[in-house]
Amino acid sequence: MRITVIGSGYVGLVTGACLSDLGFKVLCLDKDEEKIRALQNGEVPIYEPGLQALLARNRADGRIRFTTDALEAGEHGDVLFIAVGTPPAEDGSADLVHVLSVAAMIGQHLKNFKLVINKSTVPVGTADRVRAAISHELSQRGMALDLFDVVSNPEFLKEGAAIDDFMHPDRIVVGIDEGLNHSKSQRMMGDLYASFNRHHARTVWMDVRSAELTKYAANAMLATRISFMNEIANLADVLGADVDHIRRGIGADNRIGHSFLYAGCGYGGSCFPKDTQALVSTAREHGQGMQVVAATERVNQQQKEILVNRLVATLGPDLTGFKIAVWGLAFKPNTDDMREATSRVVIPNLLERGAQVSAFDPVAGVEAMKALRSDCQDKPQWLERFELAKDDMAALVDADALLVLTEWKNFHNPDFQHMKALMRRPFVLDGRNLYNPEALAELGIAYQGVGRRNDLVQLMRSGSSPADDATHRKEEAVSALHA
Ligand SMILES: NC(=O)c1ccc[n+]([C@@H]2O[C@H](COP(=O)([O-])OP(=O)(O)OC[C@H]3O[C@@H](n4cnc5c(N)ncnc54)[C@H](O)[C@@H]3O)[C@@H](O)[C@H]2O)c1
Repeated sequence: MRITVIGSGYVGLVTGACLSDLGFKVLCLDKDEEKIRALQNGEVPIYEPGLQALLARNRADGRIRFTTDALEAGEHGDVLFIAVGTPPAEDGSADLVHVLSVAAMIGQHLKNFKLVINKSTVPVGTADRVRAAISHELSQRGMALDLFDVVSNPEFLKEGAAIDDFMHPDRIVVGIDEGLNHSKSQRMMGDLYASFNRHHARTVWMDVRSAELTKYAANAMLATRISFMNEIANLADVLGADVDHIRRGIGADNRIGHSFLYAGCGYGGSCFPKDTQALVSTAREHGQGMQVVAATERVNQQQKEILVNRLVATLGPDLTGFKIAVWGLAFKPNTDDMREATSRVVIPNLLERGAQVSAFDPVAGVEAMKALRSDCQDKPQWLERFELAKDDMAALVDADALLVLTEWKNFHNPDFQHMKALMRRPFVLDGRNLYNPEALAELGIAYQGVGRRNDLVQLMRSGSSPADDATHRKEEAVSALHA
């Protein structure tokens, strides 16, 4: 069985790379010529741990190739994966323009039986629209309409751990509808994922509509857990409780479990925000409420503002003359994906308030600059006060506060003494709850996590900030940094 993957982004590339590693001959198509040229030259246009090596190995062995030629791609695969983007439209619904244009393209080139597998996250009913688009093209060409089947196979990988997720799936959801080609499609899907079902059956078979909705339900559930914990954390802050204790206390309950209970400064990424909005939009279209999910998204939007609100509560609304350091720009660690990243809310807000911003991210610097230029396109002068620092410590020089937005491992154990010496005001707003409030208190660093109590911030406000006597230590540390 040969495989074509249409759309060579995060999902398409990982799918293609992993399936080629399982021995399939894979051809990846993308309409982005620059991306395909880079891939043909052995470059990988995204940061995803392990992807570069996986692609290099399978490219060298001739199992994976890249093209912009739709005809070649259509002819190559017995199965054609659709893995193009489904970004949010103005009203929050999923924009299916890419999916449907791929469907039309498939219909224009189809000559013999192909199994069309929809891996993009799409609203219920999309498979019917894909079928209709392919059938339309086939009938224009006077071809038989049973030359294909459309199945749903939503993807559950996480960026940053995508290869491991694909190669060791908790489950594989496959939606197939009754019809002429049902048994052939089922056999092909079984063969495709046989490697993952050898030990025990991981495939969950269902009808197409249920499979389409399963993906949204999964993302909405995970997003809801995060927003729920964020609300608990905000309450814990007011009540003087610590959300980290609460997280452990409830996670130990088997019915709840430990995953996705971390409070912080909001979720981002290409999936949770758009998929929750799309689910709400689908429900609305069908006259249904989706109140829990709508609230999840609302809470998340507020949560992305929380660190700036706290900064303003301490330093005042006008941040002119203050320098704010930011650690972490990508929406989460181990990716350079900037889609819906919290940094894209925080940084323009700081710049609008007149702050100077110095930011560091281990891998997302280039993507972050592109995103911020686009976000600030109406106010390009703001970016004159923004700089990308060469490393985490360089971002801190003379800073009045540090905002931690992404939990990269490199940020877990910084040299706090050095940090304190470099900053004009040792004040850490920890949006990912990486640090121990007591340890930082002992070091004289004003600290506020999310739901971790705020004693030190009050200490700062009362004028007993330990920052004032730091000048000579700071000079020493700065010269060490430049040495
Ligand atoms: N990124 C994730 O973590 C993730 C996880 C699970 C599911 N998904 C879903 O998978 C889908 C793809 O997401 P992604 O993050 O890989 O998107 P992406 O934007 O990284 O990649 C999409 C690719 O499709 C290409 N494309 C668009 N139209 C095309 C066409 N007509 N022909 C050929 N190529 C075309 C684009 O050029 C782009 O390279 C989305 O529906 C998303 O919701 C994403």
